[in-house]
Amino acid sequence: MAAVTRVCVAGAGTIGSLLAGYLARVADVSVLTRREAHARALNEQGLRVSGRGDFTVRVRASQDPAELDAELVIVACKGNDLEPLARRLAGSFAGATVMTVLNGLGAEDVVGAHGDWPLLSSVTFMSGTRHSDTHVEYILDTATWIGPYRDTTPADAQRVVDLIVDAGLQAEAFDDLRPAQWSKLIFNATVNSVAALTGLPHDPHFAGEPLGPLVHALVDEGKATAAAAGVELWEDPWEMNVLATQRGHAHRPSMLEDVEAKRPTEIDLITGALVREAARTNVPVPLQSALYALVKGKEASYS
Ligand SMILES: NC(=O)c1ccc[n+]([C@@H]2O[C@H](COP(=O)([O-])OP(=O)(O)OC[C@H]3O[C@@H](n4cnc5c(N)ncnc54)[C@H](OP(=O)(O)O)[C@@H]3O)[C@@H](O)[C@H]2O)c1
Repeated sequence: MAAVTRVCVAGAGTIGSLLAGYLARVADVSVLTRREAHARALNEQGLRVSGRGDFTVRVRASQDPAELDAELVIVACKGNDLEPLARRLAGSFAGATVMTVLNGLGAEDVVGAHGDWPLLSSVTFMSGTRHSDTHVEYILDTATWIGPYRDTTPADAQRVVDLIVDAGLQAEAFDDLRPAQWSKLIFNATVNSVAALTGLPHDPHFAGEPLGPLVHALVDEGKATAAAAGVELWEDPWEMNVLATQRGHAHRPSMLEDVEAKRPTEIDLITGALVREAARTNVPVPLQSALYALVKGKEASYS
């Protein structure tokens, strides 16, 4: 991958806006939006970052991918919007490397089916709140993990990490992202679905009574699936769960927010991906399968 001086963020919600806002301090950043009003607001007002940061940057935004160009395209939409967004990228951004930053598993392949761009994989632990199309608040300053996926090398991942770190965010490169990605997958598949179904934020109930034993058993199913897929986990998802519940504030997983707002959740790319991998590798995952069906049922109840 060539040096990165121009970055396009496709899907500038919370995570995309945080990346666009910070990266615009060290690179030429453009934003591919879904809505014309979003592009107009960004072009007129710039993008404001508050919270851990406090600055406003200029970005170039458009609803039309043909108007944008970049060496690195960061795809940061939600799972349900991935296929339509990937379709919009087809035929554009020749020569660019595309990096997905979605939770779950399989986003790279969805994007990769629409073009022969080299691909990087990433997952992020940052969090924020999107106050408007032009204002995002940076809340949790944890890292984004990046690794090669298709026609890219660890050096390419490191180049993007250097850019993100230069911009003032945290990032770490991996030669193989799968151990890290799977650790987060198992954590999210379990915690997000349980939160969505119980209405509880991610709080100490998830490590003690009444949910701890269930969460532990769900994590065990995920670990068995990872082992069958030949993935040695980077972190123990149960330990990730315990640590997160001890942070002192109860995090509201996005799947809980989605269910409360009666929006489609990312269940297919997260718990669904885990259940599909378990079926492929012949690992019984009755608890994860039940969560998957229950969250799908919850979505069906909206209408
Ligand atoms: N939020 C967090 O704190 C957090 C933390 C860690 C990981 N993640 C993961 O990061 C990913 C992104 O999450 P998020 O919370 O940043 O999502 P989000 O706030 O819902 O933002 C998604 C953005 O994608 C845009 N989009 C959707 N379809 C598009 C299309 N066809 N063309 C262009 N833009 C399109 C949406 O546009 P509109 O504005 O028009 O809807 C929205 O701006 C998810 O996989 C999530 O699980 C999030």
